[in-house]
Amino acid sequence: MAVGRAAPPPHPARPQHPLLRPPREMPKRRAFGSRAGRIALVHALAHIELNAIDLGWDLVARFSAEDLPRAFFDDWVGVAAEEAQHFELLAGRLADFGTAYGDLPAHDGLWEAAAATADDILARLAVVPLVLEARGLDVTPEMAARLERIGDIQTAAILWRIYRDEIGHVAIGLRWFEHLCRARRFDPEAAFHEQVRRCFKGQLKPPFNQEARAAAGLPARYYEPLAGSGQG
Ligand SMILES: [Fe+2]
Ligand SMILES: [Fe+2]
Repeated sequence: MAVGRAAPPPHPARPQHPLLRPPREMPKRRAFGSRAGRIALVHALAHIELNAIDLGWDLVARFSAEDLPRAFFDDWVGVAAEEAQHFELLAGRLADFGTAYGDLPAHDGLWEAAAATADDILARLAVVPLVLEARGLDVTPEMAARLERIGDIQTAAILWRIYRDEIGHVAIGLRWFEHLCRARRFDPEAAFHEQVRRCFKGQLKPPFNQEARAAAGLPARYYEPLAGSGQG
């Protein structure tokens, strides 16, 4: 396909269900080991993946007027395709549990980062892959290990699959962030700090998964100066 020009809508279309609620109105997470707790977890992750599909395509469409090589668009189409696989895997797991995506409410805050960075591709790449997806690398192994401990090997296997793919998404985010910094003659670390401070509310939360972040090529110099005190 040729890369055309497009103006994506400010918000992607959404199915009638789930009902979207402000984060503070979300029901409290149920006990992790219970069936209801696992359904709530998988549902929340499916909701994140649905937003991730849209974020991939939004990046392709919104910044199509930038002077970017073909490989940029191919990379993000590939990411969006993997996000769709993640959604399908989680939706399939909800079906195993006799439920479906949309049966529980979901929080409506996930598109905020997209809206806050819609004016600048450097900000979008800094916040979405390099802060939010990198954060996924920090929390996913513990979630998968807890699922294994309670014997839910299938859900854990889906999380490990997602984890491996997301290392690739962070790597792709970093590759294009640094490409744009070179083109604009910006120092990449300084530009990253500036964009995150400008567009991301709050500090980054340690502990960081240094190993997975390094596997994605993301050095501690990027994220450690932005870290808060943790556990907050
Ligand atoms: Fe994903
Ligand atoms: Fe991703």
